[in-house]
Amino acid sequence: MIAFQDVHKYYGDYHALRGITATIRAGEFFSLLGPSGCGKTTLLRTIAGFEGIDRGVVMIDGKDMAGVPANKRPTNMVFQSYAIFPHMSVAENVGFGLRRAGLSKADLAARVGEALEMVGLKGYGARAAHALSGGQRQRVALARALILKPKVLLLDEPLSALDKKMREHMQVELIRLQRQVGITFILVTHDQEEALVMSDRIAVMFEGEIAQLADPETLYRRPNSRTVANFIGTMNFLPATVTSEMGGRIEIEAAGFGAMALEAAQAPGAVTGGEVSVGFRPETLTVLFDGQSAGDRESMATIEEVVYFGDMTYYDVRLDGTQSPVRISMRNVFGRPVLDIGTRTRVGWSPGAMVLFR
Ligand SMILES: Nc1ncnc2c1ncn2[C@@H]1O[C@H](COP(=O)(O)OP(=O)(O)OP(=O)(O)O)[C@@H](O)[C@H]1O
Ligand SMILES: [Mg+2]
Repeated sequence: MIAFQDVHKYYGDYHALRGITATIRAGEFFSLLGPSGCGKTTLLRTIAGFEGIDRGVVMIDGKDMAGVPANKRPTNMVFQSYAIFPHMSVAENVGFGLRRAGLSKADLAARVGEALEMVGLKGYGARAAHALSGGQRQRVALARALILKPKVLLLDEPLSALDKKMREHMQVELIRLQRQVGITFILVTHDQEEALVMSDRIAVMFEGEIAQLADPETLYRRPNSRTVANFIGTMNFLPATVTSEMGGRIEIEAAGFGAMALEAAQAPGAVTGGEVSVGFRPETLTVLFDGQSAGDRESMATIEEVVYFGDMTYYDVRLDGTQSPVRISMRNVFGRPVLDIGTRTRVGWSPGAMVLFR
């Protein structure tokens, strides 16, 4: 649906987009995820046609968009600071973009009704826009974009102004809406959880570049760099040495774990040879209680910190032979004690959950 080929964008001397190459499929829920200032809004605006590019190609639906103005593109954007007109009614807001389309009053009302129904605001048309909650205003902004029946809906941090509860509610609503209308959604967010929950695929951006583009599970399980790993969730790192590489098998030696063999896919950053880091998520290690056996391998460790979260306990443990503690997250189970600082414990782990980094 959308193809970027080596897209560059400068603001004066500032190189805001540094060679973006990516394809977004039709009907996909796609997210641009990255820290503030990395170029997410800029990239979205190059799709919408609000921003020209200095080099490269942006294609929509197989057509080069060079010279095609925003109002001739099959896209519609919901802006970072969504502005609805407070002095108008909900229906007037939603119908705004169609007011010059030459529809009869009845047809316009039908289209407005349809759009309001899509966003769960059926019957709100006559309400004054200023008399809506934040979540309802957000839906009006969505309805206003959807009524124009774009092939691609561009959403720039549409939920960031909402409180946590409302945001989670709207996340589910947006997923439902996208499935229902079947058009391509491109969402900009700096919230990694939001991106993981909502997207078919995610492009992680840093400083004007896409660091990794993959589905949520791949991004989480096999980040291709430490930067991506740290941006998405928590990852532990321990130093390791590559001892042999043969036929897609990488053997490493890591203090705390000992020797283990990994598959080539566990080094998504194409790490080879020498001193590396082995990374693992907190939930891939298990504190083994009395009588429990490890599914795979086990190591000895000392508990250095305990953070009790009600449903979860986070243990910072130091594996024997290592310098710094690693974090383990454990789901609390009724009847199982929370261990104290200083406790010696066995820790279960699996080579399959490890990722190698430079
Ligand atoms: N019109 C402009 N003129 C000059 N610099 C700009 C302009 N718009 C954006 N920039 C710069 O380009 C970089 C990328 O901006 P952009 O708005 O795309 O970031 P973003 O990833 O959307 O960030 P945020 O999460 O804060 O919205 C930033 O460093 C920003 O200061
Ligand atoms: Mg932005």
